Amino acid sequence: MANYSTNAKNIKKSSRGKRNLRPKISTKRKYIENDIIELILQDHRSLKHLIRLLKNNRKDLEKRIEALEKFTPLLLSHARAEEGTVYRAIKKHKDFAEESFEGEIEHGLADLMLEMTQNTDNKQRWSARAKVLAEIVEHHLKVEETTMLVHFKNLFPVETRQNLGFKYLSLKQSFLKTDPEVEIIPLLETEMPSQPTH
Ligand SMILES: [Fe+2]
Ligand SMILES: [Fe+2]
Repeated sequence: MANYSTNAKNIKKSSRGKRNLRPKISTKRKYIENDIIELILQDHRSLKHLIRLLKNNRKDLEKRIEALEKFTPLLLSHARAEEGTVYRAIKKHKDFAEESFEGEIEHGLADLMLEMTQNTDNKQRWSARAKVLAEIVEHHLKVEETTMLVHFKNLFPVETRQNLGFKYLSLKQSFLKTDPEVEIIPLLETEMPSQPTH
């Protein structure tokens, strides 16, 4: 009969080991101007700050609504610009293409969750949806930083990353100028409805 407690211990031990060995974009790396990785990580830092507010359902609701108003254009422009640069480039490498497909699915889930969050006037539903949205994006950023960006950095030289950096900035700007979906939808009525509306 298998010794499950020993197996469980071994699994825990080996997964701890794996976590320690997990590659990650180093925070002590040399700063290279317009390197697309730097630009993406800057956006990630801003997103993570807003994620902390959005996730915190003990925080004042108005503050979380303000956080979502900043989060929305940043998230959407960031995702679309990533798709047109890093995702497109890494898709051409068969060993890593799946990572970009996985990322696109997570972008799609975040878009959907964002839409759901914007389309309720019930405070508790809004709060629950905002929290789930924040958790989805938090997971997504972590996966990008520990897999795709690490592989991307190994595959492409600095010059290519800088060229893609310019393209990333221009895609972000043109998205913010032209996409009507970035308009912030009014989120909540001041009073809690007696019955959920959605
Ligand atoms: Fe992403
Ligand atoms: Fe990202």
